[in-house]
Amino acid sequence: MNLIFLGAPGAGKGTHAEILSKDVGIPQISTGNIIREALKSGTEMGLKAKSYIEAGKLVPDDVVIGIIRDRLAQDDCANGFILDGFPRTIPQAEALDKMVRIDRVINLDVPESLILRRLSGRRVCSNCGASYNVDTRPPKKEGICDVCGGTLVQRKDDNPETVRERLKVYHEQTEPLVDYYEKQGKLRTVHGTDDTDSTARDIKNALEA
Ligand code: AP5
Repeated sequence: MNLIFLGAPGAGKGTHAEILSKDVGIPQISTGNIIREALKSGTEMGLKAKSYIEAGKLVPDDVVIGIIRDRLAQDDCANGFILDGFPRTIPQAEALDKMVRIDRVINLDVPESLILRRLSGRRVCSNCGASYNVDTRPPKKEGICDVCGGTLVQRKDDNPETVRERLKVYHEQTEPLVDYYEKQGKLRTVHGTDDTDSTARDIKNALEA
C-alpha cells in the first residue's frame, strides 16, 4: 500500500508511521528526518534547508520533491511506503500524483492545545534520532536514549515561537491537502487524541475500511 500521513506538527505522524511501518513491513519516509540528517552531515541540501527548518518555514518545493523522487526509486519502496510529512503543499501533491499512485491518506486530527503539550514534552536522541515524550513515552533512564545511549535533547524547532510559526504554515499551506485528498476519495480522518496503542488501532481500522 502507498500511504500518506497528513497532520499538523506534533499530531503524531512520525510516531504512528513508525509503528505501522514495523507492523506491515513497508518503509516510513520522513522528509523531516531526511532533511535533519542532511543538516547533521553538512551536505549542500542540508545547508540550503537550515534557515527554513530553524525558522519553522517550509523548505522549497523543488528540494523536497527531488528528495522524494530519489527515495521512492529505491528498491525497498517496491511493495509500498508510508510518507510522513510529504506532501505539504498542493504543488508537492501534484508532483507526487505524477510519480506514483497513492492508495490512502490518513489525516491525524489533534486539537492545538494537545499539540502544544506534546511538542513541549518531545525529546529526541542527538545521536540516532529516536523520539520520546517526557509525559507519554519516557525513556527508561531520564535524558538517555534507550536505543543507543545517546543524550536526549529538544528539537530546535520545538521552541514555542517556532511551533507557532509551524502551525501557521500548516494552516496556510498544508491544510488545503485535506480537501485535495477528500475529493480523490482517499482521505480517512483519525482523531489522534487517544494513547498511542488506541490511535494505532484506529489507524489500522481506517485503512481497512
Ligand atoms: P517534520 O520533522 O516533518 O516536522 P512536523 O511535520 O512539524 O512534524 P513533527 O515531527 O513535529 O510531528 P509529528 O506529527 O511527526 O509528531 P510526533 O509523532 O513526533 O518537519 C520539520 C521541518 O522540515 C518542517 O518544519 C520543514 O521546515 C521541513 N520539511 C519537512 N517536510 C517538508 C516538506 N514536505 N516540504 C517542505 N518542508 C518540509 O509526535 C509528537 C509528540 O507527541 C512525540 O513526543 C510523541 O511521542 C507524542 N505522541 C504522538 N502520538 C501520540 C499519541 N497517540 N499519544 C500520546 N503521545 C503521542
